[in-house]
Amino acid sequence: MPNERAKGSVGSPLPHDSAHLHVSGGALYTDDIPEIRGTLHAAIGMSERAHARIKSIDLTKVRAASGVVAVIAAKDIPGKNDYGPVIADDPIFATTLVQYHGQSMFAVAATTVGEARRAARLAAVDYEDLEPTLTAEDAVEAKSFVLRTEHLVRGDPRGAIAAAPHRLSGKIRIGGQEQFYLEGMVAYAVPKEDGTMHVYSSTQHPGEVQHQVAHALDVPANDIVVECRRMGGAFGGKESQPGLFACIAALLAHETKRPVKLRVDRDDDMRITGKRHDFVTEYEVGFDDDGRILGVDFVLASRCGYSVDLSGAINDRAMLHSDNCYYLGNVGVRSFRCKTNTVSNTAFRGFGGPQGMLGVEQVIDDIAQALGKDPLDVRKLNFYGVTERNVTHYQQTIVDNVIHDIVADLEQSADYRERRRAIRAFNAKNPYVKRGIALTPVKFGISFTATHLNQAGCLLHVYTDGTLMLNHGGTEMGQGLFIKVAQVVAEELAVDIDRIRITASDTSKVPNASPTAASSGSDINGKAAQAAARKIKRRLTEFAAQHFGVAPDTIAFRANAVHADGKSITFDELVKLAYFARVSLFATGYYRTPKIGYDRKTWTGMPFYYFCYGAAVTEVAIDTLTGENRLLRVDILHDVGKSLNPAIDMGQIEGGFVQGVGWLTTEELWWDDKGKLMTHAPSTYKIPVASDVPPVFNVRIFESGINAEDSIHRSKAVGEPPLMLAISALHAIRDAIASTVDYALSPRLDAPATAEAVLRSLDDIASRRAKSAKSKVATEVA
Ligand code: MTE
Ligand code: HPA
Ligand code: MOS
Repeated sequence: MPNERAKGSVGSPLPHDSAHLHVSGGALYTDDIPEIRGTLHAAIGMSERAHARIKSIDLTKVRAASGVVAVIAAKDIPGKNDYGPVIADDPIFATTLVQYHGQSMFAVAATTVGEARRAARLAAVDYEDLEPTLTAEDAVEAKSFVLRTEHLVRGDPRGAIAAAPHRLSGKIRIGGQEQFYLEGMVAYAVPKEDGTMHVYSSTQHPGEVQHQVAHALDVPANDIVVECRRMGGAFGGKESQPGLFACIAALLAHETKRPVKLRVDRDDDMRITGKRHDFVTEYEVGFDDDGRILGVDFVLASRCGYSVDLSGAINDRAMLHSDNCYYLGNVGVRSFRCKTNTVSNTAFRGFGGPQGMLGVEQVIDDIAQALGKDPLDVRKLNFYGVTERNVTHYQQTIVDNVIHDIVADLEQSADYRERRRAIRAFNAKNPYVKRGIALTPVKFGISFTATHLNQAGCLLHVYTDGTLMLNHGGTEMGQGLFIKVAQVVAEELAVDIDRIRITASDTSKVPNASPTAASSGSDINGKAAQAAARKIKRRLTEFAAQHFGVAPDTIAFRANAVHADGKSITFDELVKLAYFARVSLFATGYYRTPKIGYDRKTWTGMPFYYFCYGAAVTEVAIDTLTGENRLLRVDILHDVGKSLNPAIDMGQIEGGFVQGVGWLTTEELWWDDKGKLMTHAPSTYKIPVASDVPPVFNVRIFESGINAEDSIHRSKAVGEPPLMLAISALHAIRDAIASTVDYALSPRLDAPATAEAVLRSLDDIASRRAKSAKSKVATEVA
């Protein structure tokens, strides 16, 4: 029957469930939770050295400072002095060794935030300085690694490169990126009766924070409840590292028997917490006359910082995305996981995937330049086939390849060829401002590569007035997960979405939940919620069949009512009757992603359930006198399968792209030669602002998109993949730089392409051009 769907079911472009609260100030973030009487405020005492032995710490002045109630260091921890998510190498407080500038050494609880922060600066620390290792390149030289070096090989890359008609090699430095979530790290620990504790934490992984706090306090997990209603952004930065702040708040709460809140300020947050890994990628490639890659060898070196954190999985994902959309028959990927005396780098949207992809994208660009071809033609030539040349370098067969359709559509709709001609004409006429264009594709694998994390749970209640309460293991960070999962429940029970109260992530409701990460939130929590709703629906169906005296298969749920044989009853009435008949009205749901699994020893198998695809065309202008760049026009076509919520998905595509542009063009992290981060505030660290959004921004969802696998309503994940569409902006800038030498050379341009980097690249290409002109003259004279 038409118009009989309930309001807000799957596919509706609903606004974010908290939009009205976000804009009115009504949304409660952790720092907004009304403080309990007696609440203390904490601050962290941070290392002033990147690498040093701590000979002594004198905290006398800290303890004596005004308002101070407690000061704690490693010896005051009842349990384990560690919050490492995978390996125990992240001390809560450094003891005898500091390994990065900003590392936590002790903490203070005081009556006010200001008093705590002032006191934390009064420690007298006697350091014995050690030589810091700061960059990935220095670490490779010194053989300083956090994990062993990995090597993935398919075929015979060295042999294929040696035998190829053409060869090239190159190198790109890829910068890191600060997550710059608007809400900084914060935790509020509230002691409860009998040694238990309730911790509010801004975290993507409440279950992990629960364990970290339990270990620090030396209590069992069931003594700790961790709750997070929402985060003001996370972007991967809150996948593993909120544990430090939660542990410190909990330790001080335990010590003082009072509630303790720890909210670090922006500068300290940036100094203490990990960022996207910066990479140095080197490659050698052999190719044929058409530009087909015959063999390619990558060496990736990433700066992991002082500890392991999530660096294993991040570097694995970089290796697994070194192909992007391209069939690489003979390929080697070597991955160095470098240990440095800097913050422990961590998850950031894309989780190593973007860095992995940039290597092969530059390979393609360089091949095109060497052969005098349009890079788009070389890209297309190397795309995975749909039914042949469709096995990845880790032996997963790609069964859902839609990149050909997406790129063909975008090439037309963005008028790529004609605009490239127009840009050449523009550049010929304009001596200082140069334009460039690039179309780049994205293929991104969906599933946690740590296979066990691909599971989720849900707890769903129906109350006797016909309203519902929804809880699941996912967390809300602005990405719209909660509304999507609520839509799944509304669809399943055919009830209006405004009957569903969405509740905070809470370890006492759904246990052992995975982090909300790897873009898998709606996939796995959506399926778990569907399973819970189906249980309740089954019970209500049976009950309704009895009630009407009909067979269960004639019962239909439609538009807030239940129908059978021309008879109907409202959902509310049915629920009430079911309660009196003693039918259970709450259920749990559980889901684990099928099919996946791979062998990390041989690097073969199926790490990903499916792939997301997209492509972008970006046109830029650069000013060759100042190095500035500006995006003029961006066209995006992105595959989200059958969208659960196209409004949310559009926001993710636009936001992801712009965040990627920030990574590749303006966001530069800079440490001084002592290892002190100097870009620790928005004054020196430039994220995109509204005026950086391109004036022409045509974003479309790939309408024929459908998940080839049985995902939740055939949708696809959307959180991370669009970030990598921004590679088109970097390549458009490369194209504009190449125009200054009439496209005769391939630019050397590291990311981010800041004004300074563009100027350096322009100087470099001009001097290489002059040298080659000189040697040509010399040859002719001889
Ligand atoms: N969108 C907003 N607004 N804020 C965020 O912090 N994080 C991104 C992405 N989109 C993020 C975001 C990252 S890193 C991931 S992994 C996904 O959202 C996580 O949510 P999902 O799995 O529900 O897509
Ligand atoms: N993505 C994001 N987070 C993760 C992953 C992943 O693949 N594996 C473990 N944590
Ligand atoms: Mo996202 S980097 O997987 O939290």
